[in-house]
Amino acid sequence: MSDMNQHGLSRRSFVKQGTAGLAATAAAANLGLLSTHAFAQSGDKTLGLGIVGCGGRGTGALGNCLKAAEELGLKVRLVAVADVAADRTTRTKKAIEKSWGPKGGYGVTDDTTFVGMDAYKKLCAHPDVDIVVQTTPPGLRYLTLREAVKNGKHSFVEKPVCVDSDTYRHVIESGELAKKNGLAIVTGTQYRRENSYADAIKHLQDGVIGEITASYQYYCASTQWHLGDGDGSWDPMTYQMRNWPYFTWLSGDLIAEQSIHNIDAINWSMGGPPIKAYASGGRIDRTESEYGNIYDHFSVHFEYENGVQSAFMGRHYKGSTNKVSNRWIGTKGTMDLRPNPGRTAWIARGHDGQTVLARNTGRDGNNQPYVEEHKALLAGITSNAPVMEIQGVADSSLTCILGRESAYSGKELEFNFLANDAKLKLRPEGIDNGPKAGPVELPFPGVRRPGKYKIV
Ligand SMILES: NC(=O)c1ccc[n+]([C@@H]2O[C@H](COP(=O)([O-])OP(=O)(O)OC[C@H]3O[C@@H](n4cnc5c(N)ncnc54)[C@H](O)[C@@H]3O)[C@@H](O)[C@H]2O)c1
Repeated sequence: MSDMNQHGLSRRSFVKQGTAGLAATAAAANLGLLSTHAFAQSGDKTLGLGIVGCGGRGTGALGNCLKAAEELGLKVRLVAVADVAADRTTRTKKAIEKSWGPKGGYGVTDDTTFVGMDAYKKLCAHPDVDIVVQTTPPGLRYLTLREAVKNGKHSFVEKPVCVDSDTYRHVIESGELAKKNGLAIVTGTQYRRENSYADAIKHLQDGVIGEITASYQYYCASTQWHLGDGDGSWDPMTYQMRNWPYFTWLSGDLIAEQSIHNIDAINWSMGGPPIKAYASGGRIDRTESEYGNIYDHFSVHFEYENGVQSAFMGRHYKGSTNKVSNRWIGTKGTMDLRPNPGRTAWIARGHDGQTVLARNTGRDGNNQPYVEEHKALLAGITSNAPVMEIQGVADSSLTCILGRESAYSGKELEFNFLANDAKLKLRPEGIDNGPKAGPVELPFPGVRRPGKYKIV
């Protein structure tokens, strides 16, 4: 008899390359260099936009893409939508039709509305779709990206792009194929396209605080939404798909799903991922079974090739002080950076506490990083120079996975082990041709217990 509860969890267990390319594109887009020559070749073609995963971010990303097209003078129209849930496709269609229909940005029909576990396949195969926005749970990114690339489509993929060693290798492989076939892949790590971040990292790399000797990063936030169980009507797979943040095989856990932004900023400043991680974590607040098998707090020490240590703290606690920021320590001083769309500020100080350089985008005005992502995507496609940035974001996703697996296992772990040797593959069997409704048997059921959980 299965030892799974209704949510598919064990009853017992409830207790460098990418970064350089990306920075260059971001810098070019921010300087407006792409917009002058890049669109000359676009002619009158309307690019067809499709979306897999009609949630909050997905609907937002569609608006960002249509806005990017408008600002660049390009024709882009939403032509197809896909989700496991009909209410989600309806909501997204309504929102985009209302905002963009009058401007010609909406053209979805009943025939191009795909609902169900295989909806992503139908959308990716549709001839009117040129670009697939992929905003499903992260654990399915390898599937949707593979399908999009196989069908010759350009991709916008949200972060994180993988949740384990196996999906890391899958997305790198899809990236290689996309590159060979002249397809673009742009990713949703929007700090990379935020002026203030790009500015801060450039000053760091130019030595504003001397040589970096250490860094701290925080993603301490409140708890997340939970959609319930469909009044008892959802089968275990549907339940997990709808409540995906709580299941490691779907979200990568909070450290990959959310904290990636601030961990990615450290990799960006260091020029690549760390060599190893030593971590701790657990769950003390969200312990009930409806919260799946993720932890609610992590603390990780990453070590980079040059010996620099970077300390990360991340958590989801209600009623506590939130903190989302980065701090670098250098031989000549410190740099503090506090992200906040539209109001990001950074300040570099000497060791005497005196300000050396600072930027406050509340005063200076900021760019629109979520729109810039799509400008880079569209500009690359229409100028026949498609942007390819999967490697850097896959490396940052794997950096988060490295911290998570070190916390889960209680062991110090090396990045290269996870990237090249580990078999780590979290998804249930039978997913590779598309998820199916029904019971879910997780390969590593339940909450991981350090010392008992072993990675192979
Ligand atoms: N860059 C950012 O600032 C940012 C912000 C929020 C979310 N995100 C990322 O965007 C992605 C989506 O997050 P969200 O907040 O929109 O979540 P969400 O739950 O609102 O949306 C996910 C959607 O995917 C659908 N879905 C689930 N399984 C599916 C399947 N097999 N096929 C098709 N559709 C499926 C769900 O029904 C849902 O509508 C995640 O990767 C998340 O990390 C990024």
